Amino acid sequence: MFEEQINIKSYEANDTPEFSQYIPDISRIMGECFDNPHYVPEINGNMWIMLFTEDLLIGFLMIDSNNCIWNVSVCRNYRKKGLGRTLLELTICHAISSGNGIPKLFVDKSKEDWDKLVQMYEKLGFYTIDIDRNDIHMEYLI
Ligand SMILES: CC(C)(COP(=O)(O)OP(=O)(O)OC[C@H]1O[C@@H](n2cnc3c(N)ncnc32)[C@H](O)[C@@H]1OP(=O)(O)O)[C@@H](O)C(=O)NCCC(=O)NCCS
Repeated sequence: MFEEQINIKSYEANDTPEFSQYIPDISRIMGECFDNPHYVPEINGNMWIMLFTEDLLIGFLMIDSNNCIWNVSVCRNYRKKGLGRTLLELTICHAISSGNGIPKLFVDKSKEDWDKLVQMYEKLGFYTIDIDRNDIHMEYLI
Protein backbone atom coordinates (compact mmCIF):
# COMPACT_ATOMS: atom_id res chain seq x y z
CA MET A 1 0.00 0.00 0.00
CA PHE A 2 1.34 3.42 -0.94
CA GLU A 3 0.91 6.27 1.56
CA GLU A 4 1.69 9.32 -0.62
CA GLN A 5 -0.83 10.83 -3.02
CA ILE A 6 -0.33 9.31 -6.46
CA ASN A 7 -1.67 10.89 -9.63
CA ILE A 8 -1.95 9.14 -12.96
CA LYS A 9 -2.16 11.17 -16.17
CA SER A 10 -1.98 10.25 -19.82
CA TYR A 11 -0.30 12.26 -22.54
CA GLU A 12 -0.16 11.81 -26.28
CA ALA A 13 3.45 11.98 -27.52
CA ASN A 14 3.14 15.15 -29.57
CA ASP A 15 4.95 18.39 -30.08
CA THR A 16 3.27 20.32 -27.27
CA PRO A 17 4.82 21.70 -24.05
CA GLU A 18 2.46 19.44 -22.06
CA PHE A 19 4.32 16.37 -23.29
CA SER A 20 7.75 17.88 -24.07
CA GLN A 21 8.29 19.03 -20.48
CA TYR A 22 8.60 15.36 -19.44
CA ILE A 23 11.15 14.29 -22.06
CA PRO A 24 14.22 14.83 -19.78
CA ASP A 25 12.53 12.89 -16.97
CA ILE A 26 11.56 10.07 -19.34
CA SER A 27 15.22 9.81 -20.47
CA ARG A 28 16.43 9.81 -16.85
CA ILE A 29 13.97 7.08 -15.81
CA MET A 30 14.73 5.00 -18.93
CA GLY A 31 18.39 5.23 -17.86
CA GLU A 32 17.52 3.96 -14.40
CA CYS A 33 15.09 1.24 -15.47
CA PHE A 34 16.50 0.03 -18.80
CA ASP A 35 20.08 1.29 -18.73
CA ASN A 36 19.13 3.46 -21.68
CA PRO A 37 19.81 7.09 -20.64
CA HIS A 38 19.96 8.31 -24.24
CA TYR A 39 16.40 7.24 -24.96
CA VAL A 40 14.26 10.03 -26.39
CA PRO A 41 10.55 9.33 -26.93
CA GLU A 42 9.33 9.59 -30.48
CA ILE A 43 6.75 12.26 -31.26
CA ASN A 44 4.39 9.77 -32.85
CA GLY A 45 1.02 10.15 -31.12
CA ASN A 46 1.51 7.11 -28.89
CA MET A 47 0.01 7.33 -25.41
CA TRP A 48 2.22 7.73 -22.34
CA ILE A 49 0.57 6.87 -19.05
CA MET A 50 2.50 8.53 -16.24
CA LEU A 51 2.59 8.17 -12.46
CA PHE A 52 3.31 11.20 -10.29
CA THR A 53 3.73 11.86 -6.62
CA GLU A 54 3.06 15.58 -6.20
CA ASP A 55 4.62 16.87 -9.46
CA LEU A 56 7.42 14.31 -9.56
CA LEU A 57 7.31 11.76 -12.39
CA ILE A 58 8.05 8.37 -10.79
CA GLY A 59 6.95 5.90 -13.44
CA PHE A 60 5.29 5.40 -16.78
CA LEU A 61 4.60 3.14 -19.69
CA MET A 62 3.83 3.75 -23.33
CA ILE A 63 1.07 2.10 -25.33
CA ASP A 64 1.04 2.19 -29.11
CA SER A 65 -1.85 2.22 -31.58
CA ASN A 66 -1.98 -1.62 -31.61
CA ASN A 67 -2.30 -1.77 -27.82
CA CYS A 68 1.25 -3.00 -27.42
CA ILE A 69 2.68 -1.86 -24.08
CA TRP A 70 6.31 -0.67 -23.90
CA ASN A 71 8.78 0.79 -21.37
CA VAL A 72 6.98 -0.27 -18.18
CA SER A 73 8.98 1.64 -15.55
CA VAL A 74 8.80 2.55 -11.89
CA CYS A 75 11.70 4.46 -10.26
CA ARG A 76 13.75 2.30 -7.91
CA ASN A 77 12.74 4.08 -4.69
CA TYR A 78 9.07 3.54 -5.44
CA ARG A 79 9.11 -0.15 -6.40
CA LYS A 80 7.37 -3.05 -4.69
CA LYS A 81 4.56 -0.85 -3.44
CA GLY A 82 1.97 -1.90 -6.02
CA LEU A 83 2.53 1.03 -8.40
CA GLY A 84 3.56 -1.07 -11.39
CA ARG A 85 0.49 -3.22 -10.92
CA THR A 86 -1.78 -0.13 -10.66
CA LEU A 87 -0.24 1.39 -13.78
CA LEU A 88 -0.73 -1.84 -15.75
CA GLU A 89 -4.29 -2.47 -14.51
CA LEU A 90 -5.40 1.02 -15.56
CA THR A 91 -3.64 0.64 -18.90
CA ILE A 92 -5.35 -2.70 -19.57
CA CYS A 93 -8.79 -1.09 -18.90
CA HIS A 94 -7.92 1.81 -21.20
CA ALA A 95 -6.60 -0.54 -23.89
CA ILE A 96 -9.64 -2.80 -23.87
CA SER A 97 -12.08 0.13 -24.09
CA SER A 98 -10.06 1.70 -26.95
CA GLY A 99 -10.92 -1.17 -29.30
CA ASN A 100 -7.35 -1.19 -30.69
CA GLY A 101 -6.85 -4.90 -30.21
CA ILE A 102 -5.75 -7.24 -27.46
CA PRO A 103 -3.27 -5.68 -24.99
CA LYS A 104 0.14 -7.22 -25.59
CA LEU A 105 3.79 -6.78 -24.63
CA PHE A 106 7.27 -8.25 -24.97
CA VAL A 107 9.60 -9.28 -22.15
CA ASP A 108 13.24 -8.96 -23.13
CA LYS A 109 15.04 -12.24 -22.33
CA SER A 110 18.32 -10.42 -21.82
CA LYS A 111 16.90 -8.89 -18.63
CA GLU A 112 18.29 -10.65 -15.58
CA ASP A 113 14.84 -11.02 -13.97
CA TRP A 114 12.85 -11.80 -17.13
CA ASP A 115 11.25 -14.91 -15.59
CA LYS A 116 10.03 -12.86 -12.59
CA LEU A 117 8.64 -10.25 -14.96
CA VAL A 118 6.76 -12.95 -16.86
CA GLN A 119 5.26 -14.13 -13.53
CA MET A 120 4.25 -10.55 -12.72
CA TYR A 121 2.45 -10.20 -16.06
CA GLU A 122 0.82 -13.63 -15.65
CA LYS A 123 -0.64 -12.48 -12.32
CA LEU A 124 -2.11 -9.51 -14.18
CA GLY A 125 -3.80 -11.76 -16.76
CA PHE A 126 -1.24 -12.02 -19.57
CA TYR A 127 -0.12 -15.34 -21.01
CA THR A 128 2.77 -16.33 -23.24
CA ILE A 129 1.91 -16.75 -26.89
CA ASP A 130 5.39 -17.00 -28.39
CA ILE A 131 9.04 -17.19 -27.36
CA ASP A 132 11.80 -16.29 -29.77
CA ARG A 133 15.54 -15.78 -29.34
CA ASN A 134 15.17 -12.36 -27.76
CA ASP A 135 11.69 -11.95 -26.30
CA ILE A 136 8.71 -13.55 -24.61
CA HIS A 137 5.61 -12.33 -26.44
CA MET A 138 2.60 -12.07 -24.11
CA GLU A 139 -1.05 -11.19 -24.66
CA TYR A 140 -3.81 -10.30 -22.25
CA LEU A 141 -6.46 -12.99 -21.86
CA ILE A 142 -9.82 -11.26 -22.32
C1 LIG B 1 8.77 -4.06 -13.37
C2 LIG B 1 8.46 -2.85 -12.51
C3 LIG B 1 7.75 -1.79 -13.36
C4 LIG B 1 7.52 -3.29 -11.38
O1 LIG B 1 7.12 -2.15 -10.67
P1 LIG B 1 6.67 -2.23 -9.13
O2 LIG B 1 5.97 -0.96 -8.82
O3 LIG B 1 7.81 -2.62 -8.28
O4 LIG B 1 5.63 -3.45 -9.19
P2 LIG B 1 4.53 -3.83 -8.09
O5 LIG B 1 5.00 -3.34 -6.76
O6 LIG B 1 3.21 -3.36 -8.57
O7 LIG B 1 4.60 -5.40 -8.13
C5 LIG B 1 3.74 -6.17 -8.93
C6 LIG B 1 4.06 -7.64 -8.70
O8 LIG B 1 5.21 -8.05 -9.43
C7 LIG B 1 6.26 -8.48 -8.59
N1 LIG B 1 7.47 -7.90 -9.16
C8 LIG B 1 7.60 -6.70 -9.73
N2 LIG B 1 8.81 -6.53 -10.24
C9 LIG B 1 9.49 -7.65 -9.94
C10 LIG B 1 10.81 -8.07 -10.19
N3 LIG B 1 11.70 -7.32 -10.86
N4 LIG B 1 11.16 -9.27 -9.73
C11 LIG B 1 10.28 -10.01 -9.07
N5 LIG B 1 9.01 -9.69 -8.82
C12 LIG B 1 8.63 -8.50 -9.26
C13 LIG B 1 5.92 -7.96 -7.23
O9 LIG B 1 6.43 -8.79 -6.22
C14 LIG B 1 4.39 -7.96 -7.27
O10 LIG B 1 3.84 -9.22 -7.00
P3 LIG B 1 2.55 -9.35 -6.04
O11 LIG B 1 1.43 -8.59 -6.76
O12 LIG B 1 2.31 -10.80 -5.94
O13 LIG B 1 2.96 -8.70 -4.76
C15 LIG B 1 9.75 -2.24 -11.88
O14 LIG B 1 10.41 -3.26 -11.15
C16 LIG B 1 10.71 -1.67 -12.91
O15 LIG B 1 10.60 -0.51 -13.32
N6 LIG B 1 11.69 -2.49 -13.35
C17 LIG B 1 12.70 -2.05 -14.31
C18 LIG B 1 12.12 -1.94 -15.71
C19 LIG B 1 11.52 -3.25 -16.19
O16 LIG B 1 12.13 -4.31 -16.09
N7 LIG B 1 10.30 -3.15 -16.74
C20 LIG B 1 9.57 -4.29 -17.28
C21 LIG B 1 9.93 -4.54 -18.69
S1 LIG B 1 9.06 -5.94 -19.36
